[in-house]
Amino acid sequence: MAEKKLKVEKPTGKLGILLPGMGAVATTFIAGVHAVNKKISTPIGSLTQMGRMRIGRRDKDIVNKPLISDVVPLQNLKNVVFGGWDIYEDNVYEAAMNAEVLDQNLLKKLKPSLSKIKPMKAVFDKNYVKKLDGKHVKRGKTKMKLAEALMRDIRQFKKENNCDRLVMVWCGSTEIYIKESAVHRTIKSFEKGLEENHIDIPPSMIYAYGAIKMGIPYANGAPNLSCDVPALVKLAKETGTPIAGKDFKTGQTLMKTILAPGLKARALGIEGWFSTNILGNRDGEVLDDPDNFKTKEVSKLGVLEQILEPDVHPELYKDLYHKVRINYYPPRGDAKEGWDNIDIRGWLNYPMQIKIDFLCRDSILAAPIVLDLAIFLDLAKRSGMHGIQEWLGFYLKSPQALPGLHPEHDIFKQLEKLENTLRYIAGEKLIDHLGQDYES
Ligand SMILES: NC(=O)c1ccc[n+]([C@@H]2O[C@H](COP(=O)([O-])OP(=O)(O)OC[C@H]3O[C@@H](n4cnc5c(N)ncnc54)[C@H](O)[C@@H]3O)[C@@H](O)[C@H]2O)c1
Repeated sequence: MAEKKLKVEKPTGKLGILLPGMGAVATTFIAGVHAVNKKISTPIGSLTQMGRMRIGRRDKDIVNKPLISDVVPLQNLKNVVFGGWDIYEDNVYEAAMNAEVLDQNLLKKLKPSLSKIKPMKAVFDKNYVKKLDGKHVKRGKTKMKLAEALMRDIRQFKKENNCDRLVMVWCGSTEIYIKESAVHRTIKSFEKGLEENHIDIPPSMIYAYGAIKMGIPYANGAPNLSCDVPALVKLAKETGTPIAGKDFKTGQTLMKTILAPGLKARALGIEGWFSTNILGNRDGEVLDDPDNFKTKEVSKLGVLEQILEPDVHPELYKDLYHKVRINYYPPRGDAKEGWDNIDIRGWLNYPMQIKIDFLCRDSILAAPIVLDLAIFLDLAKRSGMHGIQEWLGFYLKSPQALPGLHPEHDIFKQLEKLENTLRYIAGEKLIDHLGQDYES
C-alpha cells in the first residue's frame, strides 16, 4: 500500500546552480554536465543520473529497481544553468584548463559554452585563506553590506538567466579553523555580527547567510562551519530553506566509511588507522597552511569514532589510534594518492594488517557529489522540506546533524536513509525489512 504522498512541486523551468569558488571541483562539475548534455560522456558516480533503487517487494526481475529519476521528479540536466563567484577572473574554460583535471581535447569541445560562464566578484578575506590572493573581490564597509551585494548578484543572475529556482553549493577553498561562538547562536547576534564585522564570520558564512535569507537551498562542500551554526539553522527554518553540510566525502574518508562498518559488523578489533596522502592541486596548497589543515583534520577525524563507538565496544576499539596526514606535493596535481594502514585484531587477539593504496582523482570524485547535492536539495525545496537535510549526509565527510543528535557516518546506514527519504517523497512504502510484503 502506498504511503501518504507529499505535495511535490514539478521541476518546471530552469534551475540555476550557484557556486562560490570556481576552482578544480566546480569547473570539473560544470564541464562534466555540459559533456553529458552533449552526449560525449557519462555521469558516473551520480545517483541522480544513474542510480536505481528498490521499490516494493524483493522480486527477481529488475522491474522494481527503477532509476531514482523515475521515482522522484528531478530537475532535468538540460534545463540547468551555472553561475558563481571567484577571486580570480578566469572564465570556466580557462579555470578548468588551469586545474588540469579534465583532458584538454574534451575541454576544447566545450569551449564555446564554458567560456561564457564568468565568475562574479567574490566576497573574500585573505585572513581566512592565507595562501590565496586575488583581485576579483567585492569591497564593502561591513560584512552585512557584502551579504547585500551577494544577494543583488543572485537576483540579477536569476533575472538574466530566466531561472525559476536556484541552489547554492560552496566549492570555495577551506577556510581557517573557527569554533562556534556566541555570535553564531541566534539570528539577531549573527546579523549584529555582520554589521560589526565580527571576526568569527568568515566569507563562507556570508554566502550561506545570503542564500538562506533568500530561501535558496545551500550545501557546504568544505569542512569550514559555513551553515553549520545555530543562527543559520534557525534562519533556514524561518525561510523554509533546506541546507546540508559539510565537506564532500571523496577519497580516503569514502574508503573509511565503506570499510570500517564492515570490520565492525564482523566484530573485528581495530588498533590503529593511519591515513596519509599526497596531492598537488590548489586545495592541497591551501591545506598546507596549519590553520586551514586543522579545519580538514577535525572533519576527517570524527568519522571512525562515531562508526566504531569505542565506548560501547571497549574491548575492540578503546585503544584505537587514528592519524590523518595531508601532504602538498605539486607534481601530483589533482591525481591524489592516499595510503591507509589499518592494524586489526582477530580471533584470540591475533594481529593482521590491511593496506590501501588509492590512486584517486579528487575532483572526479567530488563533481558528481556537487551535482547530486544540487539536484536533491532542489527536490527537497519543492517537497516543502527545510532545515538540515540529514539524508544528504551520504555525500558528506562531517554531516550536519539535527540538534542533540550525533551524525551518522556509516555509508550503508546513510544510503538506507537517503533511499527511504526518496521513497517517502514519492509516496512509496518505506523498506524496513519487516512485514509480509517483504518476506522472501
Ligand atoms: N576534491 C575533493 O575531493 C574535495 C573533497 C572534500 C572537500 N573538498 C573541498 O572543496 C573545496 C574546493 O576544492 P577544489 O579542489 O576545487 O579547490 P580549488 O582551490 O581548486 O578551488 C577553490 C576555489 O575557491 C576560490 N575561493 C576561495 N575563497 C573564495 C571566496 N571567499 N569566494 C569565492 N571563491 C573563493 C579559489 O580562488 C579557488 O578558485 C575545498 O574547500 C576543498 O577542501 C574537495
